[in-house]
This record gives sequence, structure tokens and C-alpha cells, in this order.
Amino acid sequence: MASTHIAGPYTRVAGLGRAVPDRVLTNADLERMVDTTDQWIVERTGIRERRILPEGQATSDLAAAAARSACQQAELPVTQLDALIVATITPDTQAPATAVYVQQKLGLSQIPAFDIAAACAGFVYGLGIADAMLQSGRYKCVLVVGAEILSRITDWTDRTTCVLFGDGAGAAVLTRAEAGQGQRLIDVSLGADGAHAAQLEIPGGGSREPTTQTTVEQRRHVVRMNGRQVFTQAVKNMSAAAATVLERNGRTTADVDVVFAHQANLRIIEGISQRTGIPLERFFNNIEKYGNTSSASVPIAMSEAVEQGRLKRGDLALLTALGAGVAWGSALIEW
Ligand code: UT7
Repeated sequence: MASTHIAGPYTRVAGLGRAVPDRVLTNADLERMVDTTDQWIVERTGIRERRILPEGQATSDLAAAAARSACQQAELPVTQLDALIVATITPDTQAPATAVYVQQKLGLSQIPAFDIAAACAGFVYGLGIADAMLQSGRYKCVLVVGAEILSRITDWTDRTTCVLFGDGAGAAVLTRAEAGQGQRLIDVSLGADGAHAAQLEIPGGGSREPTTQTTVEQRRHVVRMNGRQVFTQAVKNMSAAAATVLERNGRTTADVDVVFAHQANLRIIEGISQRTGIPLERFFNNIEKYGNTSSASVPIAMSEAVEQGRLKRGDLALLTALGAGVAWGSALIEW
């Protein structure tokens, strides 16, 4: 499609990176853990395997690895970063922010480092925040990481959730660039609807239900989800957010070359394809290999798509994600 020429500085996605653990947990492994089958998982979700981080490592380890790989692709030393945002719902600790551990692992100090909790929409939220920071002129190079160790908040006795999640991290280096360099972040549209908060939550461990022996015994520290309701919300809101960001930038679904939808369930992605009219072939999917990695899923997919030549210079990429909250976000990037 024709490129849009804009004058003046814009937000550029200068590099992407990812990090996933080596250990693979297959559907066959899960068949030995809970009452499920490979056939059910593949037919209902599209997932075949997911990655699991070994004990002793934490979210910041994967986040730092993804961050280094994004900086390498951007051909920028990590010392050029002037802010660090980590999107996660599985922080290393309750406090401080995981971003400060990432800062340390990258050998940095002084630059602002903070977390955002927008669940599976976290990376897209991070893009929106970083874009505003760069457009303010006060920052020149901001790193956004989506990193999750969901295996640590998964109830491994609950077949309705444990087959879905995996661990991973994806990162993007965003810079303030001059027109004509490509990879232009055109726009980010964000939203949330707290009326659906109870559909997907980890109820224990916060200020409402501090950790006690009872909360532990009642398994209040793991993910609880009303799958069917979240499914409906996901198809509806990811499609609507995609339509909003296209419309307000004068684009149509026909202009979109590649879609990066949050990898939660292949049937949700099929639903978005049907609702938006964007053919399924234009969606880049890797859910079969990683399952749902929450905030990491979109940047991991984008990083793989660039490597595989699926996301090319001049392509219009549409990002769309939804998660707990429910919170959602869509973005447009002219690669
Ligand atoms: O990251 C963003 C947030 N998460 C999502 O977007 C996930 C959204 N939800 C989903 O992806 C789907 O709702 C699930 C994959 C979680 C469930 O799929 P579903 O087609 O909505 O299944 P269901 O909950 O309607 O359950 C159908 C049946 C039930 O049995 P009965 O009551 O019909 O006898 C479940 O007990 O499937 C059963 N079931 C399973 N059977 C075998 C649920 N999980 C499993 C399982 N293996 N792992």
C-alpha cells in the first residue's frame, strides 16, 4: 500500500526482540497431569505446546534477554535507552517494579523504570505510553517489554486454564525518528471496561485479600477465569479496537497487510477475522508453539514475523490485544 509521508519526528519501532525458555511442555505432558486430551486442546485453542521457565529464574531474566535482543536489532547500545517500561502481571516481586530489576540486569542506572499492569493488552498499552513520552520530546529512546512467567500463577490442577498459558518475553525499542526511516507507529487506541473485572482475576495476594494461610489453601493466588465470557469479550473488543484505530487514521481493513492479534485462542482469532472481514491468512499466528503468553504474545509474534519475512518494509501492521480488566488496545504501524 502507499506510504503516508509525514513531516517531523515520529515514533519508530527501531528494533524487536524476544526470549522464550527452552523447556517445552506439550499437550501430551498435560494429558498426564489433568483430565484432558491433545485433541481437545488443539481443537478448542490451537495450542500444541508452551514454554516453561525453570525454577530460580524470574520475569526480569526473560525481560532483560528480550530487551538486549531488541537493542541489538535496533543497533543501539542499551546505554542509549532513556526509559524502561515493563508490561507484566507476573512481576518478580510485589514491590518494587520488575523494570528496576531489568534496569540492573542491563547494567543501567538512573533512567526511569516502571511496570504497567494491563494484562494481555500490556504491550500495546506500553506502546501508547512510550509514544506519548517520545512525542513530548523529553525522551528519545524508550524500551517496552512484555514479559510473563504465567506458569507461576497457573493452577496446574485446573484443566480449564492450565492448558492455555506459557512463559515468554518480547520487547521493542522505540525511538524519536525523522520522517522516512520506516517502522512508523501511526497510532495506538486503548480501552478498558472494569465491569468485567471478575471474569479473569487472581483474587488473592493484593490489598483486598492479603496473603494468609487460608488464601493459600483456597488457591486464591492463581488465575481464575470464566473462559466463555472472556472469549466473547475478546472477539468483540479486539475487533472494535481494530476498527477504531483504522477508521481514525483513514485506513480500511483492505489496507492491512499483517495482523498481530493477542495469541489467546485460535478460535478467538478466527472470530476477529470473521467480524472484521480481514482474511485469516493475514493474521500471523504462533499460538501452537507458545500458548497464551499474555503481554509477551504480540511482541514475540512481531519479532518472529520480521525474522520470517512476514512483516516487510512498507507493510501496514495492525496490532490488537485484550486481557484481564477487561483491558484492550490496538495499534497501527507502517513498517
Ligand atoms: O488472554 C486473554 C484471556 N483469555 C482468553 O482469551 C481465553 C478465552 N476463553 C477461551 O479461550 C475458551 O473459553 C477456553 C479455551 C478457556 C474454553 O473453551 P470453550 O470452548 O469455551 O469450552 P467451555 O469452557 O465451554 O467448556 C466445554 C467443555 C466443558 O465440559 P462440559 O461442561 O461441556 O461437559 C469443560 O469442562 O470442555 C470441558 N473442558 C475441557 N475438556 C478437556 C474445559 N477444559 C478442558 C480441557 N480438556 N482442558
